[in-house]
Amino acid sequence: MPEVLVLDSKEDGAALVAGHIAALVREHPSTTLGVATGSTPLPVYSALGEHASGGLDFSRASAFALDEYVGLPDGHPESYRAVIDREVTQRLGMDPEHVHVPDGSAIGIETAGDRYERALIAHGGVDVQLLGIGSTGHLGFNEPGSSFASLTRVKTLTEQTRRDNARFFSSLDEVPMHCVTQGLGTILRARHLVLLAFGEGKADAVAAAVEGPVSSSMPGSAIQLHPHVTVVLDPAAASALQHGDYYRWAQDNKPDWQGI
Ligand code: PGA
Repeated sequence: MPEVLVLDSKEDGAALVAGHIAALVREHPSTTLGVATGSTPLPVYSALGEHASGGLDFSRASAFALDEYVGLPDGHPESYRAVIDREVTQRLGMDPEHVHVPDGSAIGIETAGDRYERALIAHGGVDVQLLGIGSTGHLGFNEPGSSFASLTRVKTLTEQTRRDNARFFSSLDEVPMHCVTQGLGTILRARHLVLLAFGEGKADAVAAAVEGPVSSSMPGSAIQLHPHVTVVLDPAAASALQHGDYYRWAQDNKPDWQGI
């Protein structure tokens, strides 16, 4: 069962996660972070930026992004390469050579998944993987029906996800149809998964992922197969959980020596 932590606000949730990552980087400067895009992790990056401004050195840390759109022109501001560069690499002062994003260029796309898997394995994998969850229940861009054993590959986005992400583009037509995404099997190899969700719009997907049947129809439910998962929510995102009272009880009575 994943550990579920309900914080008063997304800022509090972000501060908790950033504090954990900062402590890890302080102790192990070459920590490898798995980074997600979308709106959810932004407050974590902003809180980590404060640790960096306060003197924490991220120059030896590495990062691997979960996914990338296929076919956006080089340097497009909404390509995940550009988003990660802005929100993570520059903000934390990471070495760009240590920051990896799947290659979504149309040329060579057939091998982009395999190349990314090889890079991840050669590097030694991810220590802490940040995850959001889509309204479809996707993790990364693994839409419903994705195999739990899947590896990095090209996927077709659902219409729902394209509509959800249209806010980052000037029209729905501009949202790419395809992506390269780490598979659920890839994500499950990370040593610690931290799933963040804020707001009522995520409540049903969170409840299904945490408490529902483990099924490829709900990719988020893959987290139930991982031995070390922390789910960080605000009260709205926690509102559909059946065992919310127990999670809060466990949180309030958590032994001090246990981190997340
Ligand atoms: P969001 O997206 O953080 O922008 O809500 C999450 C996701 O699609 O995984």
